[in-house]
Amino acid sequence: MVNTKVTLCGVELDNPIIPASGTFGYGREFAELYDINCLGSFSFKGTTLEPRLGNPTPRIAETAAGMLNSVGLQNPGVDAVIEKELPKLRQVFHKPVMANISGFSVAEYAEVARRLEDQPGIGWLEVNISCPNVHGGGMSFGADPAMAAQVTKAVRQVTKRPILMKLSPNVTDIAAIARACQEAGADGVSLINTLLAMRIDLKRRRPVLANGTGGLSGPAVKPVAVRMIYQVYEAVSIPIVGMGGVQNAEDVLELMLAGATAVEVGAANLADPFASKKIVEELPRAMEKYGVEHLSELIGGAH
Ligand code: SIN
Repeated sequence: MVNTKVTLCGVELDNPIIPASGTFGYGREFAELYDINCLGSFSFKGTTLEPRLGNPTPRIAETAAGMLNSVGLQNPGVDAVIEKELPKLRQVFHKPVMANISGFSVAEYAEVARRLEDQPGIGWLEVNISCPNVHGGGMSFGADPAMAAQVTKAVRQVTKRPILMKLSPNVTDIAAIARACQEAGADGVSLINTLLAMRIDLKRRRPVLANGTGGLSGPAVKPVAVRMIYQVYEAVSIPIVGMGGVQNAEDVLELMLAGATAVEVGAANLADPFASKKIVEELPRAMEKYGVEHLSELIGGAH
């Protein structure tokens, strides 16, 4: 019998599979399809202080080996999440959930974290400093080590929970950003968010997405994710949650060998709502195939 358990910032997971924020709602949508307690955890929809309608449509486009999105952090706002979503989430998911939060100022990040602090059932805060689809926030915080550190410190001051800083691949030196987060008090980092990208409509001779640009995700980005996880693993001593184009259990093993302690599954959930469940089920077979008894032994094994 193989052992799929991993420990992320002191919290034990039955397996490392975590549907990524923005691809799994607040859980209940998927709980109508299957028992989501088979997952290690999931990262809920990126939540901001105020409700947001998101960007104008179209905000999704297909690509050869993935997709673009420019959703723009659509969400009902943290108070509505606390009042309406979390009670429903707790009915269907009985493990610690990852709370994904975003902001448009350092103070806003801290305020969202503060409001969530006394909510039961949250295992980690995943602080998104890497959304490529909003102006005046998101990726701008994650592109500069000093700004990334400021957000980390502000959130650190208002929470006792483990903080994972979600990093952008749209930078020259992701290891420097990860180091700045670690020094500012982060308990872990998650990477990679989407790659800034564009498609152009040949008939209209204009960008396909109303926002112009969007974030590329899906299998096309997996080698970029593997490279960045590998680099960040060498740069920091805090755990990494890896993500980027994961489609199957072998991809999970690859990201873990690069240095991930747990692995998020994103775009795959949008193509197949059962994708994360299937990966959980495939994992023991893939472990047997590669002679892995304890999954946690694989973390950083390629270094
Ligand atoms: C979005 O809502 O635009 C996507 C979130 C993200 O990429 O961080």
